[in-house]
Amino acid sequence: METNGRVAVITGGASGIGLGMARAFAAAGMKLMVADLDEAMLATAVDELSQSGVEVAGQTCDVSKLEQVEALAAATLDRFGAVHVLCNNAGVGLPTPTNNIRLEDWRWMIDVDLWGPIYGVKTFLPIMELQGEGHINATSSLAGLFGGGFMGAYNVAKHGVVALMTTLERDLRGRKSPIRASVLCPGPINTAISRHSVEFRPSKAKPKTDSAAEGRAGANVQAALDKGMDPDEVGRLVLDGIQRDKFWLLTHPYFTKILSRQLEALIADGSLTKG
Ligand SMILES: NC(=O)c1ccc[n+]([C@@H]2O[C@H](COP(=O)([O-])OP(=O)(O)OC[C@H]3O[C@@H](n4cnc5c(N)ncnc54)[C@H](O)[C@@H]3O)[C@@H](O)[C@H]2O)c1
Repeated sequence: METNGRVAVITGGASGIGLGMARAFAAAGMKLMVADLDEAMLATAVDELSQSGVEVAGQTCDVSKLEQVEALAAATLDRFGAVHVLCNNAGVGLPTPTNNIRLEDWRWMIDVDLWGPIYGVKTFLPIMELQGEGHINATSSLAGLFGGGFMGAYNVAKHGVVALMTTLERDLRGRKSPIRASVLCPGPINTAISRHSVEFRPSKAKPKTDSAAEGRAGANVQAALDKGMDPDEVGRLVLDGIQRDKFWLLTHPYFTKILSRQLEALIADGSLTKG
């Protein structure tokens, strides 16, 4: 779709990938509503973006609360009179082995990472359909395509996001809606997601049976992120995907080989991983 002069809402837009999207969208002449849970990071991001001359507003919003997502939509319409692009990007993630994760951490990750995008679709889709133009993107992950170990709750939420967006896109195409959907599945990106997630995590205590292996898994995830792609590059990739009406937005397409191997094993002998 055409992006120049259009209005974009980005959740989790105060840092990392969301801020990368905001910068890329601003450079393409879009107007921005940046939403985030963290007030201080939000104020800094809005300040930076407004200095570049873009029309931008910020709204504190916890995407795991429907009424706050509805308030975000109302504030956007109030300020800009329209919403053309929604990026359901806010997210949290910590290594979470299935045997050792507290129920409140399960709920928190699924509330933010899956219910957040569901509330986004539910709230913003009717507005876009009335307008006759729009694009809804959600940030999933490679963890939404492949269930690796030690990432239980995150994998569940991110698989849900892929399911939400594939179903949405098929439903939209099925009834010839002018609205498009897409899903971003990043590989490792150099952001502070681990640090932010530790700060926001409801059960601050470490799991009782935290093992050395789990500690290593956390360190490995962080090391991969530190060497990951620049989030500004991801922002430009998302902009390009929206402009070209692409559905799958992959930052590291070669990682999809693990999906092929999983499918081959399924077909060959019903095992999870062949060999
Ligand atoms: N960094 C990676 O390697 C990577 C890989 C795959 C997917 N992702 C996904 O990308 C998205 C962005 O993460 P990031 O890596 O840029 O991390 P980040 O921590 O820099 O950005 C996430 C933003 O979401 C905000 N946030 C957290 N909880 C929120 C809530 N309840 N409501 C509203 N905002 C909230 C945070 O304050 C933060 O600004 C997430 O959905 C994450 O799961 C990241």
